[in-house]
Amino acid sequence: MSLKVPLSWRRHEDNNPRTHGGFTIPRCTVGELRIACLNQSGAAAVSGGERTTPVEPIISAKNIVKIYRSRDVEVHALRGADIEVQKGEMVAIMGPSGSGKTTLLNCLSGLDGVDAGDITISGREIKKMSDDALSEYRAKMMGFVFQAYNLLPVLSALENVELPLVLAGVSQKEAKRRAGEKLAQVGLADRMSHKPAELSGGQQQRVAIARSLANDPAIVWADEPTGNLDSETSQEVMDLLVKLNREHAQTFVIVTHSAEIGGRANRIVKMRDGRIEDDGNGKSAVAAAASSR
Ligand SMILES: Nc1ncnc2c1ncn2[C@@H]1O[C@H](COP(=O)(O)OP(=O)(O)O)[C@@H](O)[C@H]1O
Ligand SMILES: [Mg+2]
Repeated sequence: MSLKVPLSWRRHEDNNPRTHGGFTIPRCTVGELRIACLNQSGAAAVSGGERTTPVEPIISAKNIVKIYRSRDVEVHALRGADIEVQKGEMVAIMGPSGSGKTTLLNCLSGLDGVDAGDITISGREIKKMSDDALSEYRAKMMGFVFQAYNLLPVLSALENVELPLVLAGVSQKEAKRRAGEKLAQVGLADRMSHKPAELSGGQQQRVAIARSLANDPAIVWADEPTGNLDSETSQEVMDLLVKLNREHAQTFVIVTHSAEIGGRANRIVKMRDGRIEDDGNGKSAVAAAASSR
């Protein structure tokens, strides 16, 4: 049997320490203060209204262009998209089908290359990184949750969560310990030995979330994570994501069609025709870009 392993799971020998974005701006808006307060890592210090909060976006993308080319057609999927996300923020990306949401996520996470523009993740410009360095960076920094749970049917819930850890070089014993901890965190302590077929859709998505969190990633990308779930189960999965975001100060970027799910995020970024139509920071990104030209 051949298993297709996502690039982000690939094992690499180079053990560069993870770099985190620093938090240093002298002045900040109320929104930024709110975000800084969400950050529980201790990096941001907000006290007595003092504006000492250093803030640097963990995700910063400028003028991203992505064109899919086939023999006779070119699809301009991203036409100059700009986005910034602060550490600890939960951002929902919404927009019509085909507006470029999945493409944006794939480009920001480095799963796919861009035709133009700059993407900086936690202070590192990803286009300057080799494929291997980027793969390793992704494995350490990022977790992925997709609409399809992508669980391996022959493995138990525990083994599904262990697998990426083992592939990343964590010892079997430690992988088992961490996988058990993550499954308990998502409320599945009593389902660890179940195979995916023996779990409900919501439970399978919880296993996928536990798997994406196994490495304690700084950023979790989720592409329509509740797309296959009924509305009650969607709410439960979203409750879980919000809880994880609050408790672990991880940054979440979630593509969703659901206004209800979007409403749970700190901010909604609206996409249309390959551009950010509204960045949710109180101004239209398109208008802001136009006025700065
Ligand atoms: N691999 C691909 N090859 C060619 N065109 C693609 C590919 N992936 C997406 N597209 C096109 O790019 C546009 C944006 O797609 P996508 O990012 O998937 O949108 P969304 O996630 O918002 O529905 C669409 O017109 C889609 O048909
Ligand atoms: Mg999509």
